[in-house]
Amino acid sequence: MKKYEIAVLPGDGIGKEVVPPALEVLQTVADIHGGFQFEFTEFPWSCDYYAEHGKMLPDDGLEILKGFEGIFLGAVGNPKIIPDHVSLWGLLIKIRREFEQVINIRPAKFFKGLRSPLLNPSDFDLIVVRENSEGEYSEVGGRIHKGENEMAIQNAIFTRIGSERAMRFAFELAKKRRGHVTSATKSNGIFHSMPFWDEVFSDVKADYPDIKTDAYHIDALAAFFVTRPQIFDVIVASNLFGDILTDIGGAIMGSIGIAPAANINLNGKYPSMFEPVHGSAPDIYGKNIANPIGQIWTAKMMLDHFGYDEAGKLLLDAIGDSIKSGHITRDIGGQLSTREAADAIINNFKKRAN
Ligand code: NAD
Ligand code: IPM
Ligand code: MN
Repeated sequence: MKKYEIAVLPGDGIGKEVVPPALEVLQTVADIHGGFQFEFTEFPWSCDYYAEHGKMLPDDGLEILKGFEGIFLGAVGNPKIIPDHVSLWGLLIKIRREFEQVINIRPAKFFKGLRSPLLNPSDFDLIVVRENSEGEYSEVGGRIHKGENEMAIQNAIFTRIGSERAMRFAFELAKKRRGHVTSATKSNGIFHSMPFWDEVFSDVKADYPDIKTDAYHIDALAAFFVTRPQIFDVIVASNLFGDILTDIGGAIMGSIGIAPAANINLNGKYPSMFEPVHGSAPDIYGKNIANPIGQIWTAKMMLDHFGYDEAGKLLLDAIGDSIKSGHITRDIGGQLSTREAADAIINNFKKRAN
């Protein structure tokens, strides 16, 4: 029987609360399916680890992770003890970069019974393909001058290879969905990067005559996520635009605590990493009220990644059952604890699977 060796990094804050129940969900799915197994190996790499060891992970940490077939991560960041730029660049971004996880897939959809802040949420179902390796997230630049002329310079790096790769991924995904790709641009701004992005988009689009396309400036696009999200199918966005859009994606589903993500390595050299869109939520950590759906839907994305789409679909349906029946945490209008909300999903899954 196929056994998947998964590295588990609960990380910080609510990552430590939502990862354990999500692992139980994965275990349940594997047990009921019967055709595969997971072997989970947990690593304590986090801000607490940094406080003790002066680094986010041991020197051979990446070497160790490299041997796994997937990485299941909660969240990283505890700005009270370690500045975010140190902890995030030291672990999360490091893994994304070193393991060439160049694509970040982030869906958002309407569930029946969802308490969305939208007036008319209707049936939106979209996926943001976020370029995950370059763009605005570049290490080029720095602080220069002192005194009155003090400044920070940040260079954005857009390569044809990186932009095109994300766009092709989006077009391929659209083929399997409703055949529509939206480009998140800002070519009216005074950037060199966005007219270039548009040009690459137009070149890629020429290879996909059956796919409909459009493009919106990111500011307008962000507003359309709120006013008419149902016009979108697949959206391709640069690293920072995709980051911001996908928190909005979470918000229109009712809570960022629902939104999942998958950081995909395309060349097969390194494991992909599965982590929800939300962070460590220090404001609610320790209260057992964190919504586990983001982490559990992320587990579903890992199932899809390994080819168990049917099990993944059942799991998403089980999440939908929970939302519909109100067996959910308080951020989306329920009263359950993290644990109870996860148990409800496990029970729904069992009912659907049997
Ligand atoms: P956040 O996503 O942690 O929290 C934003 C808001 O959403 C908070 O009010 C929080 O309580 C709420 N929230 C988030 N997840 C929730 C859940 N599952 N259930 C219910 N409510 C939830 O973002 P932030 O406050 O900007 O960042 C906190 C820390 O997390 C920072 O250190 C940040 O850098 C880090 N962060 C890490 C990741 C990651 O590891 N992937 C992602 C985003 C932020
Ligand atoms: C995310 C997070 C990260 C990002 C941060 C924590 C570095 O916001 O995964 O969305 O900006 O990519
Ligand atoms: Mn983010």
